[in-house]
Amino acid sequence: MTERKGIILAGGSGTRLYPITMGVSKQLMPVYDKPMVYYPLSVLMHAGIREVAIITTPHDQDQFRRLLQDGSQWGMSFTYITQPSPDGLAQAYLLAEDFLDGAPSAMVLGDNIFFGHGLPEALQSADAQEKGGTVFGYHVVDPERYGVVDFDKDGTAREIIEKPEVPPSNFAVTGLYFLDAEAPARARAITPSARGELEIVSLLQSYLEEGTLSVQTMGRGYAWLDTGTHASLLDAGNFVRTMSQRQGLQIGCPEEIAWHNGWIGKELMAQHAKTFGKTDYGGYLAALIREAE
Ligand code: DAU
Repeated sequence: MTERKGIILAGGSGTRLYPITMGVSKQLMPVYDKPMVYYPLSVLMHAGIREVAIITTPHDQDQFRRLLQDGSQWGMSFTYITQPSPDGLAQAYLLAEDFLDGAPSAMVLGDNIFFGHGLPEALQSADAQEKGGTVFGYHVVDPERYGVVDFDKDGTAREIIEKPEVPPSNFAVTGLYFLDAEAPARARAITPSARGELEIVSLLQSYLEEGTLSVQTMGRGYAWLDTGTHASLLDAGNFVRTMSQRQGLQIGCPEEIAWHNGWIGKELMAQHAKTFGKTDYGGYLAALIREAE
């Protein structure tokens, strides 16, 4: 199989977080000690994906470039693509078609945070599926805010409905989509919804009808965190703080994952530790090097 490529969709207007997002992109906001985009990027890295396109609004691109650079600092390669207006999640596949160049993809929304034991293994098994795709369902109290899975009596997904007034289940589809090489062609075939967007659920539905979409549920051992409101953004930060301070283990640390994956060597790792100096983050990287010795 051609190596899977990653897409981080980090555009959008961020109006729900105004006024804080009036001057800076939502996906660059801090979630405790890191920019939000580090967390979805880490998910792709856990899946073993090294080539990633980062889709942003035209006016935010420079800031993303300044932060994330060309990816080589983490043994990766980044391509920057702009989305002139937020015309829907499925549009990402059209914008990234040249970048994908016939490869399968894993797209993650730049504001989605995942945490859980066994996550890398779940991602790697989604990566191994060649035909069709994999999405993840997560039990939430407020499914009407998301794409929701309708399961039949046997527990097989038969439909995914965007923000239904009467949700058929409590399982929201998270913003992480593993799709095969056909995704851009299928995205081209869908028509905009009543709200004028190329909906991700329409794209997923085309796979579902064919029986090639696997809906994996993430159980109680996982956290899928929302950053859509001021309160949930703060909750996400508090969650990361609580977990990482209790365990002394970082969540969403690209340097650590790159090092663990063997994508960067000791020299580059030491350079990163030096860059972050006496911060907790720098101390953490330095300790990783010491432990390995
Ligand atoms: O978070 C998971 C949910 O994400 C899914 O359950 C839904 O099916 C999916 O439609 C989406 O729902 P949201 O209500 O969160 O979509 P929103 O329009 O807020 O966009 C999600 C993120 O993607 C947001 O950070 C902005 C960015 N975005 C959005 C659109 C529509 C773009 O970068 N470009 C876009 O065109």
